[in-house]
Amino acid sequence: MKSYVILISGRGSNMQALLDAQLPGACVAVISNRPEAAGLAWAAARGLPTAVVDHKRYASRESFDAALAEEIERQAGGRADFVFLAGFMRILTAGFVERFAGRLVNIHPSLLPAFPGLHTHETALRTGVRVHGCTVHFVTATLDCGPIIVQAVVPVLPGDTVQELAARVLEQEHLAYPQAARGLLAGRCRLEDGRVLWRDDTTSPAAALRVPAG
Ligand code: GAR
Repeated sequence: MKSYVILISGRGSNMQALLDAQLPGACVAVISNRPEAAGLAWAAARGLPTAVVDHKRYASRESFDAALAEEIERQAGGRADFVFLAGFMRILTAGFVERFAGRLVNIHPSLLPAFPGLHTHETALRTGVRVHGCTVHFVTATLDCGPIIVQAVVPVLPGDTVQELAARVLEQEHLAYPQAARGLLAGRCRLEDGRVLWRDDTTSPAAALRVPAG
């Protein structure tokens, strides 16, 4: 069975969605860069090993990333098949990304390549886009960039507040991330020439795109 590690920084609702989805793989640990991350207690209560690699204790991004990589491998007892970033709010160095190339996956609350970085829902409302959503993608050295595994689309409705739009997107994040993780763990999608190919793409384009009904 394939193994994975989840990295969080806060609430951890995407982590919960992954763990509730009964994926075809074993979560070997949840690691946070913030000791106070609420998701740690949830994971520990669920009986999962948890660890903290506190970025404030490291003088440089390189030294933090090296410690994080070591902790991931220590918890996995060697090589983790996948590392799922679930609200992990640290920019990772090129060296870290290279070390986990093809195994490092992130969820971002926008339809990339639109709106990389922070405040995606505010930007969506400000620019007047009619659709918004989330993206699960492989991580590359460029922030919020990299081969797209799954995207989910939601409408932007007249009068939406940031909170309403964020909640609509988050509901889809909790479905899109397990969908992507399941595909990866089950070997139903893979990286080829910098793009993600789904095995069932020919019969079901919906594999990589969620468009909720209603
Ligand atoms: C989620 O909306 C996730 O997409 C976002 O942070 C939130 C974490 O919530 N991630 C990023 O913005 C990464 N660039 P969670 O802790 O409840 O999963």
